[in-house]
Amino acid sequence: MPRASEGGCTLAMLQMPRLLTIAIDGPAAAGKSTASKRLAKRLNLALVDTGALYRCVALAAQQQGVGWDSTHEQELGDIAGTLNVRFEFDGEVNKVYLNDEDVSSTIRTAEASDGASKIATLPAVRASLLELQRSLANRPPGAVLEGRDIGTVVLPDAALKFFLVASIEKRVQRRYDELKAAGRDPDWDELLKAETERDKRDSERATAPLKQADDAILIDSSSLTADEVITTMLAEVRKSQKALARSMSANLTKELQASADDAAHAPGAAQQGGDGKPRDCAGGSGNILDALQYV
Ligand code: DC
Repeated sequence: MPRASEGGCTLAMLQMPRLLTIAIDGPAAAGKSTASKRLAKRLNLALVDTGALYRCVALAAQQQGVGWDSTHEQELGDIAGTLNVRFEFDGEVNKVYLNDEDVSSTIRTAEASDGASKIATLPAVRASLLELQRSLANRPPGAVLEGRDIGTVVLPDAALKFFLVASIEKRVQRRYDELKAAGRDPDWDELLKAETERDKRDSERATAPLKQADDAILIDSSSLTADEVITTMLAEVRKSQKALARSMSANLTKELQASADDAAHAPGAAQQGGDGKPRDCAGGSGNILDALQYV
């Protein structure tokens, strides 16, 4: 590792985390969308709704007359590999654009949900979307990624992973309320059947099934409000960033001591003032904790 004495505040700058990635996985309607949106806003990070990417692949395929079954796997993989999607916050709404067309509502229909769940079982589609998801996540200052396999496959090294669950009744009730609020007339039993089928397909598929990562923090939102979920998540972010800052601070202290020792023994050390301290980084270790105030 370069020494602090190698110029400027290089060491301190090198030690600052440039990327904060947070994975939020879980079944449909467990509260991931609300939580990830609010977390991204609070932390000033990008939000990547990876389910929307699968939904866009299904929609793009439909527009091109390509079926959603495995006989079209190669074409679907190609569609996923050349997908032109962007997300843009419009107030509280994370809008989704496919080829510059606003598809935020079109991708949320029951048909699109079914298509997304089907094409998501195909390895060629998943492989193509993996690159896209990683490239979206790895843009400084980082991102919150919401999905099914973020903590296990897409970002196994994410700084923080949450697995958000809720009872099936609670999840169906949330969908029911959402649709009612949107002026629709949903059927509770049909919603229950659709969600149960989707859960089964998402958890039992061979490639990247819905699964809690070993190091993910489990949150059951069945009896929590959205505010309580976000408070729990923010507390975990704070805890993990403080732990990271403490370990960085300890490393930096060691490096500063080593460079002070080097300087004290270097010829001409007295001309630097004799204390061997790299003046341009003075106070660097003390500032790191302050500099990491993400929340
Ligand atoms: O989160 P959602 O309901 O918008 O996701 C739509 C479908 O996409 C869902 O049935 C599972 C799939 N999906 C996935 O397989 N992996 C992800 N990371 C995100 C979604």
